[in-house]
Amino acid sequence: MSDQLINQQGGEKRTLLIVEDDLGLQSQLRWHFEEYNVVVAVNRDEALTALRRERPAVILQDLGLPPDDEGVEEGFATLQESLAIDPTLKVVVVTGHSDNANALRAVSMGAYDFYQKPVDTNILDLIVQRAFQMAGLEEQLRKAQTEQSSPLQGIIASSPQMLKICRNIEKLAPTNVTTLLLGESGTGKEVFAKAIHNLSEQKGNNFVAINCAAVPETLMESELFGYEKGAFTGANKLTPGKIETAENGTLFLDEIGDMPLPLQAKLLRFLQERVIERVGGRKEIPVNVRVVCATNKDLETMVKEHTFREDLYYRISEMVINIPPLRERQGDKILLARFMLEKFATEQNKKLSGFTPAAANAIEAYEWPGNIRELENKIKRAVIMSDTKNIDNEDLDLSDEIELSINLRSVRQNAEINAINAALSLADGNMSACAKLLGITRPTLYDLIKKYDIKETLIAQESDQ
Ligand SMILES: Nc1ncnc2c1ncn2[C@@H]1O[C@H](COP(=O)(O)OP(=O)(O)OP(=O)(O)O)[C@@H](O)[C@H]1O
Ligand SMILES: [Mg+2]
Repeated sequence: MSDQLINQQGGEKRTLLIVEDDLGLQSQLRWHFEEYNVVVAVNRDEALTALRRERPAVILQDLGLPPDDEGVEEGFATLQESLAIDPTLKVVVVTGHSDNANALRAVSMGAYDFYQKPVDTNILDLIVQRAFQMAGLEEQLRKAQTEQSSPLQGIIASSPQMLKICRNIEKLAPTNVTTLLLGESGTGKEVFAKAIHNLSEQKGNNFVAINCAAVPETLMESELFGYEKGAFTGANKLTPGKIETAENGTLFLDEIGDMPLPLQAKLLRFLQERVIERVGGRKEIPVNVRVVCATNKDLETMVKEHTFREDLYYRISEMVINIPPLRERQGDKILLARFMLEKFATEQNKKLSGFTPAAANAIEAYEWPGNIRELENKIKRAVIMSDTKNIDNEDLDLSDEIELSINLRSVRQNAEINAINAALSLADGNMSACAKLLGITRPTLYDLIKKYDIKETLIAQESDQ
């Protein structure tokens, strides 16, 4: 780094943008503020370009800028656009002598402070110093807030359920237990699988994921176990499978509930004996891999229905982690939304400071059936579409969906009420017969009747049954 960019503390010089069309004053200020990395601009265009390129934390800006150097409108427009680009900016506005009205107007528009000409550099020094201090403190605070909300690397959460899961992951990661991650689509199963890997002894080695739902059944065996040269037509060279590739690392079996039954037996053998045989091979190859599985299917029901092997189920579920859907995570919706906003705003090089109250309410009210993946997509879209400082309800495009989800729920409830009423009258109010007609148990029927407050007139007395 050149000497020019080093300040007395030995750190990088902080950047100060001076927007001033009076060239005499401009050079006086530039000379005065030599402890900063001073960038100058004479009009709105130059100021905005410098702002985007140099990312100053503080701007010292004259209100009378060309072509309106006798007025203030160009100065206010510059202030407004600067803050739209970077809402964290500290803008110190320089106004005419005793021009209190415009000084107040500037502060109410978001300027950090004002200074009235003629220039007294000692006072101006203090104001600029304080502005840098404030910008630095706010930056530290923002950093601390992000660190605090990330209990595990790559995971943003503050709800008690999620914090507990993170603690459990920290405990189980260094062991060798086979872990099963259960959760709806988009809840972060893969994120947790990677977190386990990164906290484990295997972290220096491969993390190999295979999506059991995406590989056709005919190819699954060779994908997992590899094949020898000549094992089948087209097998012209020895190819190791995913399991071997994960040697000394982690194998992530994603969507394990979609594993075809014939392969479940082969997988079980690998898990029990920790050896594999390549397709077309004759020898057993010992392997050392950590296994993490995930699914959004109800494996216990699948076991009962004989579509998932019970012995395999017990083998993979040495440790089960239930990842709750986003709608059940108290406080996490808005936290994640802010995190995504910052991430995409940086990616898109857009300066956005947050959400309008309406947008924040919509985020809280929405059910997020697609969980964090859906939130991520919606925020990304909003960041691209938004042309204001804060993301608004409309940018999120959620209101129709909120109505839809409310309607869907009431449609489902109405359907249940109608079916119960119909069954009750068909069964002459006899509860056992009614439950049978509906294909539910009597206690469930009682629960539903209570829940929907169904009229007693339809229900026969217990003694009638
Ligand atoms: N707690 C979290 N903090 C930050 N980002 C998250 C979190 N949980 C999930 N994500 C992000 O959300 C997206 C979905 O996560 P992931 O792919 O792990 O979900 P999944 O449960 O495997 O979903 P699917 O069932 O659809 O495969 C990813 O882009 C991931 O980075
Ligand atoms: Mg996944």
